[in-house]
Amino acid sequence: MNHLVAPSLLAADFGKLNDEIDMINRSEADWLHLDMMDGVFVPNLSFGFPVLEAVSKRVQKPMDAHLMMVHPEMYLERLAGLGIYHVTVHYETCPHLHRTVQQIKELGMKAGVTLNPHNPVHLLEEILPEVDMVLIMSVNPGYGGQHFIPQTYEKIRKLRSIIEKAGLQTLIEVDGGVDLENKNDLLKAGVDVLVTGVTVFHSPNPLETIRKLKT
Ligand code: DX5
Ligand code: ZN
Repeated sequence: MNHLVAPSLLAADFGKLNDEIDMINRSEADWLHLDMMDGVFVPNLSFGFPVLEAVSKRVQKPMDAHLMMVHPEMYLERLAGLGIYHVTVHYETCPHLHRTVQQIKELGMKAGVTLNPHNPVHLLEEILPEVDMVLIMSVNPGYGGQHFIPQTYEKIRKLRSIIEKAGLQTLIEVDGGVDLENKNDLLKAGVDVLVTGVTVFHSPNPLETIRKLKT
């Protein structure tokens, strides 16, 4: 399949949020990536439901919510109510991951699981047939604009091979430090979805940058 591009709203100018969302609507972006942080699982806060509600009313692309929070199951119903398309929860936050994945799917959303950089892909082998996507963090979650961790390539290759051997359609998304330099190597390693924050929103011509990320 052709790869997807999901700009991360975290790097947008929140003082002109409507303009930023309109830019995404006009662009070739496939999804809008939404980073929700709780200040507990990650050492930062981002935005919560009031902002998400405003975004959901304006955006015309599917919303890809990346939950960096403890007890993500508490918020799933509200996310479904806002029309979120894809939800990824962190492996590290879900002691009953199988149950949480089922809950996401029962609410009509696509379910993804995220792995922090230190966690090996084999942790997901048993849950893989149940999930629509695995999000591989290529930085430690919590902040935009960090340096890409090079070990991510090998991790993606390993996960791609597990997915293929099992005959699954699970997507692989990569998040953190993705730019125009490393995107081809990431796609070659087996990535389906590129998340990009500063690369898109801090570039002089975000529409053109998204177009380049799509090629
Ligand atoms: C980090 C977030 C990322 C972040 C990526 O915790 O999950 O989505 O916004 O930003 P860049 O592309 O700037 O590294
Ligand atoms: Zn993210």
